[in-house]
Amino acid sequence: MSKQQVGYIVGSLSSTSINRRLANALVRLAPGGMSFTEIGYSDLPLYSQDYDEDFPEAARTFKQSLKEVDALLIVTPEFNRSIPGALKNAIDWGTRPYGQNAFSHKPTAVLGTSPGAIGTAVAQQHMRSILGFCNAPQMNAPEAYIQFKEGLISEDGKVSNESTEAFLRKYIEDFHAFIARVLTVLPRE
Ligand code: FNR
Repeated sequence: MSKQQVGYIVGSLSSTSINRRLANALVRLAPGGMSFTEIGYSDLPLYSQDYDEDFPEAARTFKQSLKEVDALLIVTPEFNRSIPGALKNAIDWGTRPYGQNAFSHKPTAVLGTSPGAIGTAVAQQHMRSILGFCNAPQMNAPEAYIQFKEGLISEDGKVSNESTEAFLRKYIEDFHAFIARVLTVLPRE
């Protein structure tokens, strides 16, 4: 079987994002049957329906990147107990024009990290609600609410704590299995 092509979206635009570190850790720990590409969105304008007639280049590229992957991993911070506005804007672009929702039937998983004790739990619930509306199958379990402590994950994704590393390895292995199950019943168009 060919490798699963997984796109990952980091919900932070910060150049020092701890969520990108978490994404890098998952890429490092993933089984050999997965390959990863980051799907960027920082150049997207704020979405308006006025664009529906003629999407700008950045939005076409973004939507094409979504279409090209077998699955999506969303690694997001929590901003004011929800997902960051830039991430929501990107998702809105991905679902439009009406009838051209790039998330439909795409296997997804959501996780995130924060210095806060609940590790992005509220943002993830919001994200799950959005993905439900977008008709994207989601991995229900395991959930991953990672409290970030100084030094937990290096910039290039090395995890310093053994139990966190084992947990993240299991998480990405489970996502691998979930993607395979979803693609069996919902093959890519
Ligand atoms: C935060 N932060 C935060 N943390 C949290 O656990 N819950 C929250 O609701 C918020 N709200 C919030 C709002 C805004 C505007 C900012 C800038 C930050 C703190 C946040 O977890 C921290 O800055 C992380 O480092 C953000 O993740 P990245 O950008 O480093 O990946």
